[in-house]
Amino acid sequence: MKVTVVGAGNVGSTCANVLAHNEIANEIVLLDIKEGVAEGKALDMWETSPVNLYDSRITGSTNDYSKTAGSEVVVITSGIPRKPGMSRDDLIATNAGIVKSVTENVVKHSPNAKIIIVSNPLDVMCYTAYLSAKVDKSRVMGMAGVLDTARYRSFLALELNVSPKDIQALLMGGHGDTMVPLPRYTTVGGIPVTELIEEEKLDAIIERTKFGGGEIVKLLGTSAWYAPGAAAAQMVEAIVKDQKRVLPVCSWLEGEYGQNGIYLGVPVVLGKNGIEKILEVDLNADEQAMLEESAAAVRNVMGVLDGMDVL
Ligand code: NAI
Ligand code: 2OP
Repeated sequence: MKVTVVGAGNVGSTCANVLAHNEIANEIVLLDIKEGVAEGKALDMWETSPVNLYDSRITGSTNDYSKTAGSEVVVITSGIPRKPGMSRDDLIATNAGIVKSVTENVVKHSPNAKIIIVSNPLDVMCYTAYLSAKVDKSRVMGMAGVLDTARYRSFLALELNVSPKDIQALLMGGHGDTMVPLPRYTTVGGIPVTELIEEEKLDAIIERTKFGGGEIVKLLGTSAWYAPGAAAAQMVEAIVKDQKRVLPVCSWLEGEYGQNGIYLGVPVVLGKNGIEKILEVDLNADEQAMLEESAAAVRNVMGVLDGMDVL
């Protein structure tokens, strides 16, 4: 089982490290455009194998896509990250060009790959990759919901002083400040979260989640990588092990949740064929309205991209 990670920066190298450390794939290729960076990081990771006791082979490549040939899954993290004061949408022109050319190269060498986009602005970079890849929608998806849900769950675990393992949650919509955490679909050891926490505290956690990416940018001067890298690796694992995990994944919608022709985060079944099923859960009027607001924000950025002549 071969997995490629494009972009050996903060998120890509973290993702590759998790894939190797947890033996999620037996062959991992890390690729970057910067001379020597992917080779150097991959070698450094491989040198941890006798200490961390794994035998996944990890190698690096400077932009040689022939080394990625036959990958089952490709994670695309290439692009520029946010700096303080920038929104994810500010990255659009640069990252769309990068995602387009990377996707074309990926598909040329791995025509059957499932492609997981991480580059921002996430929902619109998925759209860019989908148009560039020209493959079935089930094979082009984005990582955002797993990260955003993880942030939400981790904050709830702190507030309730319980294990994050016991918190299940659903969050939908775009990867931006309009994302839609859903307390009605959040449980703690099977107990609805609303029975365990006051409304005011829950609202504060939801707000913190929505701005969770920005909280890290303010602290670090650039965007997060540990949680994003691990989240992308969890999606890879679901596919390569055909786990049929139920995860929030940025997916191309054709009528689901009243949305058509847009990438948005929704709950899906993730297995060896990629997105095997989109799960449609009941949303009340307020939740549907929030999802529509989030979709409108994504469409706005899609419009900016469509006007740019990048695709
Ligand atoms: P980074 O700057 O550390 O790494 C990006 C890497 O991409 C660099 O090593 C760069 O050389 C490489 N690159 C640029 N153009 C390339 C090309 N044409 N081919 C191959 N490699 C190329 O950035 P970081 O922190 O790893 O973030 C990567 C992207 O992921 C950013 O767009 C960031 O906003 C996004 N991100 C998305 C998240 C999500 O939840 N979807 C979470 C965190 C980051
Ligand atoms: C994050 O949510 C910036 O998308 C990146 O950390």
